[in-house]
Amino acid sequence: MKLYLDTADSVLIQEINKTGLVDGVTTNPTNLAKQGGSPRDVIEKIFTLLPQGTISLEVTEKDPEKIYTQAHALAKLKDSVLVKIPCHSTYYPIIKRLVTDGIRLNITLVFSLAQALWMNKLDVHTISPFVGRLDEIGQDGLAFLADACALRNQYGFKTEVLAASLRTVAQVEQAIRLGVDAITISPKLFRELSAHELTDKGMAQFTADWSSLGSGIRFP
Ligand code: G3P
Repeated sequence: MKLYLDTADSVLIQEINKTGLVDGVTTNPTNLAKQGGSPRDVIEKIFTLLPQGTISLEVTEKDPEKIYTQAHALAKLKDSVLVKIPCHSTYYPIIKRLVTDGIRLNITLVFSLAQALWMNKLDVHTISPFVGRLDEIGQDGLAFLADACALRNQYGFKTEVLAASLRTVAQVEQAIRLGVDAITISPKLFRELSAHELTDKGMAQFTADWSSLGSGIRFP
């Protein structure tokens, strides 16, 4: 199960990558714009920080033919790039062509079971069902994620399920139970997932008990 960071912030990527847990990064126009400056420089920095990492880069063109060309250009930047394309019906024909060309796609903004099925049938590398944004319009994001996983299992599709737009520890835990192939999470959510109050409390207790032996104790 792959762990991606949903950020383009190289400082945070560098810090969290020290844990040895990071398999890659998912970027989008929003998180690249947040960094300011040249998106190309930001991407190059991320490539340097994660030489083996899978990096999702999203198309920014609107016209399908331009997206087709841009997708090829993004894929050429690095073997491990997944090209993100929004799951919009006007793009289905070029998604089909790009898959035929061997371009690894991460179809983003997937919000319905039908969209998920279409993308599985087009044999894309990855789909990104968005959990939090569905919850925010009063729908059940985790139920949709469960459906997307069941679809893959039921028909034996090879398309990977990348749980995206995750907001809480509970959502990530449920995504893991569902057997998603990957999750992408913010650096903040990574920290929340990694911490537990009983770990902190237990460490404080161990330190206090050890101190009771006095300062002259050697171990080993
Ligand atoms: O990378 C895509 C996705 O995880 C973004 O989610 O809803 O937090 O903008 P959101």
